[in-house]
Amino acid sequence: MDKKTRVTREGIRLYAPEDFAGMHKAGKLAAEILDAMIPLVVPGVTTGELDAAIEKMVVDAGATSATIGYKGYEHASCISINHVVCHGIPSEKKLKDGDILNIDVTVIVDGWYGDTSRMYVAGKLPRKAERLIEVTHEALMRGIEAAKPGNTFGDIGFAIQSFVEQNRMSVVRDFCGHGLGQVFHAPPNVLHYGRPGTGPVLQEGMFFTIEPMVNIGRPETKVLADDWTAVTRDKSLSAQFEHSIGITETGSEVFTLSPADRFHPTYG
Ligand code: MF3
Ligand code: CO
Ligand code: CO
Repeated sequence: MDKKTRVTREGIRLYAPEDFAGMHKAGKLAAEILDAMIPLVVPGVTTGELDAAIEKMVVDAGATSATIGYKGYEHASCISINHVVCHGIPSEKKLKDGDILNIDVTVIVDGWYGDTSRMYVAGKLPRKAERLIEVTHEALMRGIEAAKPGNTFGDIGFAIQSFVEQNRMSVVRDFCGHGLGQVFHAPPNVLHYGRPGTGPVLQEGMFFTIEPMVNIGRPETKVLADDWTAVTRDKSLSAQFEHSIGITETGSEVFTLSPADRFHPTYG
């Protein structure tokens, strides 16, 4: 007999304790792939070459890329350089000294999805970019701190937004985190801004991503003619970090922890 699938009023699935193991396995592979990319991110390499290395690691692990074939997307990663906010398409474009980039990978292992992204730098990290990366990473960590039963999704958004704005940077509103598990994108939309006590209440067994995008300048974005690449309207630098997490009885577990402890920093 199938066990009954529990779903909240808001349509958020509540996974069972035994489901955490599958998420840890998928999350670990995604994080290992991001760890392995660190030495490959150098001036002169193309983002297409980086994506090919990612696709090979996914295949060699006996896993599946969640992004290849997703809504017509054809690559194993999104690689978003400088003012690209997210969904940068791997291409023949070569990295230049001082470029900062986000690499976002989602894998499927035994039907479970592991989705994570982090920042890299090619060559020497510009001072302004370093501050942006630090703030964005810390914003994600504060969001994860707020992720525990009894808190709400608004508490997560508030923790992220208030920290970013204290640092005089801005949170992107046009893209959000998402539920995941045995699917890539599920309810709820995990907003990276909000007010305390608003939104669905967090419960044990919720699996979702937190993936704040932070801009040095204004929050507005636009999508280029390729229908994927999202950029800052004011051309200011943008950064993003993403973890997949699960709510436990007392807090949360991060599924996409870096085995090499290189989630941050990935430079230097
Ligand atoms: N991994 C992205 C996320 O965090 C989604 C990428 S969809 C793609 O949700 F098609 F652009 F790859
Ligand atoms: Co995601
Ligand atoms: Co992602």
